Amino acid sequence: MLRLLIGLALLYQLESSTLFTLRQGKIFGGESASVVDHSFLVNLRRGGKFRCGGVIISPSCVLTAAHCLEGRHQQLRDLTVHAQQQCLGDETPPEHVRSAWYVGVAPNYCHQRGLDSDVAVIRLSRPFDIAGNASLVKIDFNDLPPHSNLTVLGWGAINEQGHNWNQCLQVANVRLISQRECIQSMGSGQQKVTTNMFCALGENARDACQGDSGGPTIHAGHSVGIVSWGYGCGRGYPGVYTRLSSPAITYWLKSFIERHC
Ligand code: ARG
Repeated sequence: MLRLLIGLALLYQLESSTLFTLRQGKIFGGESASVVDHSFLVNLRRGGKFRCGGVIISPSCVLTAAHCLEGRHQQLRDLTVHAQQQCLGDETPPEHVRSAWYVGVAPNYCHQRGLDSDVAVIRLSRPFDIAGNASLVKIDFNDLPPHSNLTVLGWGAINEQGHNWNQCLQVANVRLISQRECIQSMGSGQQKVTTNMFCALGENARDACQGDSGGPTIHAGHSVGIVSWGYGCGRGYPGVYTRLSSPAITYWLKSFIERHC
């Protein structure tokens, strides 16, 4: 009898969590965006397979999340950067594709230790044609005012059901939430929210999702963060972003760009 009760309770829990996920509908909660209006945006691929987002910060350099490189910072032969792609399945003409030459990863980032300082710069083997159809985004290294409105962009999943390999670009508005509030919501998990991160969440649980990593958080036209992690998406937890205004990250990023980009 007891076993039956436990079984029923488990079943109920499973059902309600599925229902909960389904009720959220589009988890990203975003809308379609045109890549032409965001021509600084790129997607990263390994062996042709979509992995992450990124942004062009100088003709020869792309900013992304360190975890997008999956600990293979030295193996770059199969890493390509694709510009001007509206949907992931769209053909990319060779002039919109670049290969990686080398990669810089923030010194505090450690693949085995979690997602602190989740930032990397890919130095391309050949610059993008900035006068042509790619553009640059500027980084704002200043701290954000409380409750700032932010925009997040990417080809990530629109729900927890899985990734669509022909996903078209999406955009969503989210709002900065305080560090204290974020630590409260995310605190008990394995991954801690550090000063190298900030959190944001939109209305109706609007958030980034799997596959959006490496992509930008934009504030007043400038890049201020990088999509890094979250607990699922659309569950009402905040999304966590790499905080480019953190002194350690600013210092490393500025000196890397000065020397290599
Ligand atoms: N780590 C994810 C990726 O590799 C990004 C997850 C962001 N999730 C979120 N709920 N904000 O694409």
